[in-house]
Parts: sequence; C-alpha cells; structure tokens
Amino acid sequence: MTARPDKQDPNTLSFETLAVHGGNEVDTASGAIRTPIVMANSYHLPTDPSDVDWSDTSIALYTRNSGHNQIRLQQKLAAMEQGEDAAVFATGVAALHAVFFTLLRTGDHVVVSDVTYEAVWRLFAELLPERYQIEATFVDTSDIEAVKAAIRPNTKLIHTETIANPTTKVSDIAALSSVAKHAGVLLSVDSTFTPPPLFRPLASGADLVIHSLTKYINGHGDAMGGAVIGSRDLVQRIKGDALVDVGGSIAPFNAWLIMRGSVTLPLRLAQHCRSAEFVAHHLASDPRIAYVHHPSLQSHPQHEIATRQFGARGFGGVIAFALEGDPATQNRFVSNLKVITSAVSLGHDESLIVHVGATARGGSDRWPDEFRKYGHLRLSVGLEETDDLITDITAALDLTFDG
Ligand SMILES: Cc1ncc(COP(=O)(O)O)c(C=O)c1O
Repeated sequence: MTARPDKQDPNTLSFETLAVHGGNEVDTASGAIRTPIVMANSYHLPTDPSDVDWSDTSIALYTRNSGHNQIRLQQKLAAMEQGEDAAVFATGVAALHAVFFTLLRTGDHVVVSDVTYEAVWRLFAELLPERYQIEATFVDTSDIEAVKAAIRPNTKLIHTETIANPTTKVSDIAALSSVAKHAGVLLSVDSTFTPPPLFRPLASGADLVIHSLTKYINGHGDAMGGAVIGSRDLVQRIKGDALVDVGGSIAPFNAWLIMRGSVTLPLRLAQHCRSAEFVAHHLASDPRIAYVHHPSLQSHPQHEIATRQFGARGFGGVIAFALEGDPATQNRFVSNLKVITSAVSLGHDESLIVHVGATARGGSDRWPDEFRKYGHLRLSVGLEETDDLITDITAALDLTFDG
C-alpha cells in the first residue's frame, strides 16, 4: 500500500504536491495559511543567552545566519532535491563561490567542465589560482576518460553543469560520480538548467547540487537567489564558513518570492521543455539557421546521454543557435523580434534571447567550431504560446534576410 500523503512529511508527497506545500506552514501568530514574510534582521533571544552559539544556522537568530523565510525555503529545496539539507544565498554565484570557498585550500586541484557559466570560469581560471594557488584543469566533462586522466593526487573536487551554459553540453552525472568516488574526490553539479523533477544529481551520486534560484525555480524574473543542497555534514560546513563568516545571505523578501515562484515549478518546467523542443526542431528545419544545439535534437553531441538522463521528462528550456551570417546579422535578427526579449538570464516566464557573440571571457576557445564561426544566440524559451514564438522568429528571420 502506498503511504498516505501528509503535508507534514515531505517523503510522502509526490513532486507536484511538494512544490505546493513544501516549506509552507500555518502562521501560528496570525492564522495565515501561507508563510508570511518576516523582514527582521534579528530574532528574540532567550532570557539567558549565554548558551547561544552565535554561529548557529539552524535557528532564527540573525538573518545573515538564517531567518524564518530562509529556513522555509531551505526545507523546501532540500525536499525537492531529496537532499538532507540546503543552504540559500543571495545569488547563484554566491552559492557556487560558497562551495569552492568551503571545500578548497591552497595547493588543491579541481577538475572543472570546460564549458561553464562565466563566473565559474573566471573563479577557476583567474581568481582562485592567483589569490589562493588553487589549480584547475578545464576538461570536457562529457568525456569520462578525459576526466579520469585529469585527476591528480591533490584533486579535491570535480565541478560540472548538467546542461552547460552556454553551449548546452550535457554531462553524464552518474558516470562522473563513479569517477569521483573511485578517486576519493567530491562531485559538485550546477543543475540550474535541469531543476527537479527534470533531474536530481544527488540521486545519481553527486555530493552537492547547486542552483541559481534566479532562473527556473523562482521563474518570474523578479528575484535573485542561489542554493546548495547535499548531505547535512557538507551543507553545515558551507553554512558555517560561507554564510556566517562571508555573508552573501538572501533577503527574506527574495526567499519568500522564490518560495512562491517554486509552487508552479513542475507545471512551468514541463511547458518550457515542450516549447523549447518544438522551437529547436523548427529552427533546425530552417535553411537560414547555421546550427542549433538543444539536447532534444538527434544532432546534439550528447543527445544519447541526455535522453538517458532526463529525456523522459524533457531536455530543458535553453537553445543555442545562430543564423547564417555575420555578427551584424545576429544583431539584426534580435532587433527584429517583437515578442522575445533581448536580455540576459534564463528560466523566466518570458522568452529571453542574448547575442553572446563568438567569444566571451568564459573559455570560449573551447566552444564548438560553429559557435566560434557564427557567434551564438542563447534563447531561453518562455511560457508564451508556442505558435506566437514561432511566428515571431519566422517574421524576424524574414525581415533580417529579405529586409
Ligand atoms: C548555470 C548557471 N549557474 C549559475 C548562474 C549564476 O546565477 P546568478 O545569476 O543567480 O548569480 C547562472 C546565471 O546565468 C547560470 O546560468
């Protein structure tokens, strides 16, 4: 017999039910059935505070350590990723930095995906080596033999993205996890492009999963946040070192907004994936398009891994492509769009496009040849009617090529 679902016990809830009820509770003071926003820096101390641990992050004490809304969001995210604990931060980059800052010491070595969000590239290419002599080897993490070969005696961490920003390269997390376990190193996975229920890196053996909550989990483009989820032990270390003593804490209002946005995550994500797959196939069939990368396409270099890993639930909402033509052509196309907005970020309700160009500081020398030949457009497919998006793209292409 299946267990009776109970809001008090996340383990009994299906993902959709968890997305609605996780972390929420009746507010005993007001009777409100939704967790209220508590905009307080500090919480009331016991009469005798001499036993209080001023670095405690498990109770509401001081909002840099923890607070009412942060605790609720952490509970919800840990349950969604099926981790023991979660730490929330002001941004996704603060969460990434918190992981690296906590786990790495001078002289340590890291194996990093050769395609990552730009800030991660700069942390490992410049900031951490220059300031703390932490060494990094950038490797194609979809090539397991290359990852094995890059491991050294002083390697402490493998870091990758499930679907990498910006090329959409897909890595096999279960295979990376067995390499990491065999070598006795930790595996951290940025799963911003594949939030649950699409994929759960911890269930495939990752030690830590990181999200930019700014993207799909909030989903409405109106708040920034980041999260790290994993074992109680690792997350406690990260909270202790990187929340209490570095800062980077999320504001209660943003934590509340992200809680609210995350209620509809499963519905939104399913639609993002469906629409992106449709748009990707449409782009791939247009001769004016030089190339399209989306993991749903058979032509995608890691289509087989993506299908095995999360294809049954979808392939994510981000497409990388370019028009036949020079950078001015790509810019003209973007200017000709009337529904899709030219702006950075992704995972919002509205479709966003950014002309990233042929080079960026984030290790673009390792991007596929076609990205460097034509530059590229990163399209985050939103929740608009798919026909409207296709019509917008087709009209903008017609204007770009035929004037
Ligand atoms: C994969 C990935 N990780 C992390 C980040 C950084 O998140 P934030 O902008 O919330 O700091 C981004 C931002 O685009 C991203 O795409």
